[in-house]
Amino acid sequence: MNKSPRASITGYGSAIPDRIMTNFDFEKFLDTSDEWITKRTGVKERRILPPDQGATSELATEAGRKALEDAGITAKDLDLIICATISPDMLFPASACFVQDALGAVNSAAFDLSAACSGFVYGLSIASQFMETRKYSKILVIGADVLSRHADYTDRSSCILFGDGAGAVVLEPSGDSESGIIYSVMKTRGSGWDFIHIPAGGSRSPITHELIDQGQHKIKMKGRDIYKFAVEKMQWVLGDCMQHCDLSVDDIDLIVPHQVNIRIIQSAVKKYNFPMEKVYVNIDRRGNTSGASVPLALDEAVKEGVIGPGSTIILVAFGAGLTWAGATVRL
Ligand code: ACO
Repeated sequence: MNKSPRASITGYGSAIPDRIMTNFDFEKFLDTSDEWITKRTGVKERRILPPDQGATSELATEAGRKALEDAGITAKDLDLIICATISPDMLFPASACFVQDALGAVNSAAFDLSAACSGFVYGLSIASQFMETRKYSKILVIGADVLSRHADYTDRSSCILFGDGAGAVVLEPSGDSESGIIYSVMKTRGSGWDFIHIPAGGSRSPITHELIDQGQHKIKMKGRDIYKFAVEKMQWVLGDCMQHCDLSVDDIDLIVPHQVNIRIIQSAVKKYNFPMEKVYVNIDRRGNTSGASVPLALDEAVKEGVIGPGSTIILVAFGAGLTWAGATVRL
């Protein structure tokens, strides 16, 4: 039997809302400043999906449609759609089902994947297994989140971080032995579930008026704990991805990290002396878009010509769960 085919990225797409929310907008209703937010997080502005302009699946569908066009295939060709999100349209059905319907992907299975900001990289890893076993040959992996709907706009330490968006890639079997997802890794530590979570609205605490009055339906975050965890795990993922693929810093063209906080990203890459020119950053314009963060950055890096065919990149992410994940990809 021939060697297992690798999953190769053949199309990229992304979608962001039109509405821009700047740090100055936060100054109008919170005890904060553009200077504090910029210095501590790197975020200058983020995109917000207004309540009357749809849900996560709409952004996911737009990103998916663009990725299909870029790959030159139709929705009918798809075998599988994975939508990584922690802000689905509804508790159920999965947002991936809305995407499947909107795209007209009539031959595709579809499911959501809940791994927060690591979700897209988890999705790539899972999709690549289906391809290596030859189960599927055309897969759409989307990361999409609208965390503005769940952010607590009275909590200045968390709400300033988040933006909305979606990013997507099409995966198909690699035509050569060089390109594709060379390696991927996924990890979880559930004991840190309370570092960032939404307490109410699930089966543990079904929503009540009282819980809403207490703000239990909004994001609760332990910023400093996440900060330490994020730096440690990003460093670990980078080391793991390089070691498994026998790559040095010089061999890597670009790191596409989860856009969480510029200081976290800088601390993580410093360990290996990665120059910041080899790290893609759009947090200043996009904020933390959770599951969309990595694929949105990836799409922008490709569209800007920062990377292209032949580039070797590492994707690195971490998020609620706690989860962390990485992938080494040759484009
Ligand atoms: N504006 C002004 N002051 C603020 C703000 C704000 N927006 N937010 C917090 N402060 C204040 C605090 O109240 C505190 O004041 P005090 O010293 O009087 O008590 C001071 O600033 C310092 O607070 P720290 O929490 O120590 O600030 P830090 O430098 O750690 O930055 C931040 C906070 C930005 C939240 C940082 O810890 C961080 O980015 N953590 C990671 C969070 C994260 O990534 N969350 C998403 C995870 S991904 C996912 O799964 C969705």
